Amino acid sequence: MSEKIIKSADRVKIAGEVFTPKKTVDFMLDQPEIKEKVNSLTTTFLEPSAGEGAFLVEILKRKLEYAKTQSKTNKEMQKNFLLALSTLYGIELMEDNVEMLVINMVNTFRDVYFNTFSHEEQNHKVLKSANVIISANMAQGDTLTRKTATGEPIVFSEWTPVGKTKVQRTEYTFDSIVEDGGPLGSVQNQYEQLDLFASDETEDEDSNVRHYLPVKWEDVYKQLVE
Ligand SMILES: C[S@@+](CC[C@H](N)C(=O)[O-])C[C@H]1O[C@@H](n2cnc3c(N)ncnc32)[C@H](O)[C@@H]1O
Repeated sequence: MSEKIIKSADRVKIAGEVFTPKKTVDFMLDQPEIKEKVNSLTTTFLEPSAGEGAFLVEILKRKLEYAKTQSKTNKEMQKNFLLALSTLYGIELMEDNVEMLVINMVNTFRDVYFNTFSHEEQNHKVLKSANVIISANMAQGDTLTRKTATGEPIVFSEWTPVGKTKVQRTEYTFDSIVEDGGPLGSVQNQYEQLDLFASDETEDEDSNVRHYLPVKWEDVYKQLVE
């Protein structure tokens, strides 16, 4: 079956929307310097014009395969699946593309999950947490203005492992990541926390940024805030 890489001539004109064929994605991800980064549980990727996820979906598949090789037990593998997933970020302008992006990431994670773990090993909390991570990491918005369609700042979550089983979720505006951090491609460890975070007295009620409690990876779906 041939791949559809263009939806309409208008969309190509308005948003430069031409999707990358799988063969090209594979070729690019097979380059040794990229391969090395994909074969890591913690290296982050940000796709600033994510489309329907041609690159992010393939990177997710490859990272999950890598996670299998790095896990001694089924439980550890499930945690490593979520860790690998949490390193993938996307921004996409067009709402229908973001919808497909989220669906494609959710389906990819679920397919690999169901093919890896037996019925007895499966834990629905892991899938629910995967959905929360995907929703948080795939943003609808304009990478250039760093805002969503409604003019709000794009907000991303950093997922920092705490000990062997837990994670600390911290939100940052994309603006603060770009201004205070390094290159777009490396989100983690490259930026400062917003001033807003630093103060526990004068929190802005209008802020888009929430404070989360450290939880087990499988409990991310509970979205427990302070
Ligand atoms: C050339 S396509 C590539 C899509 C995807 N990366 C792929 O390889 O299949 C560019 C994508 O960027 C999106 N886009 C265009 N301008 C954007 C902007 N300012 N911010 C975020 N996304 C944008 C388009 O809607 C389109 O889906």
